[in-house]
Amino acid sequence: MKCDFRSASLVSDTEFKSSALLLEPFRKLLVKQFTETDYVHKEASIQLPFDEKMMVRVQKLAKTYSSKTLKYLVVIGIGGSNLGTQAISEALPPPLTPPRAGGGSAQILYLDTVSTHTFNNIFTILKTCKSKEEFLLVSISKSGGTTETTANTEALLSALKKPFRNVLDRLVVITGKDSKFWNAATSQNIPCLEIPEMVGGRYSVFSAVGLFPLALAGVDIKKLLAGAKEAVQDGTNQSLKTNIALSSAITSSVSYTKGHTIHNSFFFAPELESLGKWYRQLMAESLGKDGKGLMPIVSIGSTDMHSMAQLYYGGANNAITNVITAPIKGSVKVPKKLAFPGLVETIGGKSLEDIMNAISEGTKTAYKKLKRPIVTFEFEKLDAYELGYYLQTRMIEIMYLAKLMDVDAFDQPMVEAYKKETKILLRK
Ligand code: PA5
Repeated sequence: MKCDFRSASLVSDTEFKSSALLLEPFRKLLVKQFTETDYVHKEASIQLPFDEKMMVRVQKLAKTYSSKTLKYLVVIGIGGSNLGTQAISEALPPPLTPPRAGGGSAQILYLDTVSTHTFNNIFTILKTCKSKEEFLLVSISKSGGTTETTANTEALLSALKKPFRNVLDRLVVITGKDSKFWNAATSQNIPCLEIPEMVGGRYSVFSAVGLFPLALAGVDIKKLLAGAKEAVQDGTNQSLKTNIALSSAITSSVSYTKGHTIHNSFFFAPELESLGKWYRQLMAESLGKDGKGLMPIVSIGSTDMHSMAQLYYGGANNAITNVITAPIKGSVKVPKKLAFPGLVETIGGKSLEDIMNAISEGTKTAYKKLKRPIVTFEFEKLDAYELGYYLQTRMIEIMYLAKLMDVDAFDQPMVEAYKKETKILLRK
């Protein structure tokens, strides 16, 4: 992954150095923690990529369901329980992922919020299955008591009874050990995978939460974790040149103190939109507290250049923009001999990738000329390794950023407040 935090971030060398110095004790703490295997610290999620035992447990269970018959995997979960999986599976759609051993690649269907529309769409798809072996339901909830996830799980199990009779044997549960959900599921012999207590939802993508469904969808989870491991090593390294997490945290923090309170992840690859939404949750829930917080937004290039560019370039100068680019696979070309010559002459003979590159470079140059801060991230390849690297880097970045902003990156008291109020209302 190639990044540029210097040329257009409007952050000076002195600012980089002084923030890095402030973070030095925390960086040293992270170095110590990732080499441990105990999951006792708040930052414990950085141990996940190195957890061989967990990986074996996940692979073993995935293997028992992996077959050519399996067509659909329904991931029932919300927030940290589905966003990471969705980010990766959409960035690596089935034809581009290597087929998994013993089978094809199951298509993941996501059931997060309570919506009759989405529920019926999924139910209609599952009803087309000739047997229940063609689908698997994976219900994921760290707390084991999230209203939406519990309601969707119950409603789907019940609806599927009619066409397939009992489908409890097509359910896998991923939850905190000893949660009510864990106890209820194990007492009915439903296979359960554990989320370590100290790993919060938004930091859990490299636990069973992400790895189990992704393995069944044909994603190379070993490669994903290899990328994450390298990111932990680089992200705890002292050098600002190679430590992307540290450099990125510093640019966002310095920009924030200068009034750039909006953080725009601008992806010039539409298949990365869910990656932006995963990061949005990570940043919002980790930093939005004590009256502080960057407002994370996600933009898609070039689509949003046709709807948001006026505001981004001409409105209030209050955003730090991350321009994220990725290579396009396959080659589609505009013909040299155009059917409508004289409209846009410069595109003749160019590939769609050439055109997208020109648009993203043009976008960056315009930001620079207007002196609106940007940093750039460039995926050299869009594969499991680079995605693992990116997600892990972002999680470490947010830990550094929370330190600089002096907030706790790991709690979410206000999310709990809304969950509590919802339960009170439903009791009526
Ligand atoms: O990151 C978090 O902690 C939250 O966004 C949760 O992931 C989300 O609220 C879902 O909670 P649970 O996994 O307990 O069902």
